[in-house]
Amino acid sequence: QMVAGVAHEINNPVTFIYGNLTPAREYFQDLIRLLEGYQKTYPNPIPEIRQIVEDIDLEFLMEDWQQLVDSMQVGAERIRQIVRSLLLFSRQNTSQKKPIDIHQGIDNTLLLLQHRLKAEGVNASGCDRAPDSEIKVIKDYGQLPLITCYSGQLNQVFMNILCNAIDALENQPSPRIITIRTELGNQDSSFREHQSNGVRNGNKSAPTPYSSLTTPSVVIRIADNGTGISEEVQKKIFDPFFTTKSVGSGMGLGLSTSYQIVVEKHQGQISCISTPGKGTELIVEIPVNSKSR
Ligand SMILES: Nc1ncnc2c1ncn2[C@@H]1O[C@H](COP(=O)(O)OP(=O)(O)O)[C@@H](O)[C@H]1O
Ligand SMILES: [Mg+2]
Repeated sequence: QMVAGVAHEINNPVTFIYGNLTPAREYFQDLIRLLEGYQKTYPNPIPEIRQIVEDIDLEFLMEDWQQLVDSMQVGAERIRQIVRSLLLFSRQNTSQKKPIDIHQGIDNTLLLLQHRLKAEGVNASGCDRAPDSEIKVIKDYGQLPLITCYSGQLNQVFMNILCNAIDALENQPSPRIITIRTELGNQDSSFREHQSNGVRNGNKSAPTPYSSLTTPSVVIRIADNGTGISEEVQKKIFDPFFTTKSVGSGMGLGLSTSYQIVVEKHQGQISCISTPGKGTELIVEIPVNSKSR
């Protein structure tokens, strides 16, 4: 709730800035028009005026102003988007589940992580980053129905998984890729039987569609081509306070919280497939209509 409060506080002043940029641009253009009128009427100004023109470097000023306002506008727009995402994100509403668009939740989470996706692997100076140091996000979204869930909590799950993926890519060579795939899981109660009738058998790669639930569901897979997780570690990743990260960078609560949210609050499933050195895939399956708890 604190996040929501802060986001609201930021939202107002940002709206002033954003709202005033357009008139500021127009006023300036009016002034320039006036100036040009003067220049036409008095092509040979007195030395004092000429001195001012030189001092302020009028030509450069007029050119630069335009770019300046443009970049302010881009900046203000970015802040507005982030604030909006924070508001959406923190819209916890734990008292009631609501039908939401999962893709919107994922996109919002990605927006909040933009700085880490862009900046990861940047050298100390920060400025001249090679474009290939960015983490590429591939979205492969299926057609999904609205999901009745605690949207804030589910966003938290996406956040935790995506953060881990970014962590796992930290010192990896490019291309560094996160793939997000969504699809319908189970579509009716007889689906599971179809599946156990052999569709999955002998198919070592992840089957499509995949389901571990007996009610209609959606499946969200988030994969990275990072460090991967050894079999030994895989057994423990959902344990509270289990972490392989250094003190301060990992609390070991991300996946255990996610497990709680997915399995206990939404009667869903969360699992992990990983090959050390190749990458990791977290699979989250959420019933389309889960019971309220
Ligand atoms: N995508 C991933 N790639 C590699 N290891 C992962 C990944 N996701 C989770 N892990 C492992 O699972 C552990 C627990 O994750 P988490 O519960 O989020 O805690 P934390 O990120 O604070 O360590 C991590 O320390 C890491 O060893
Ligand atoms: Mg984590």
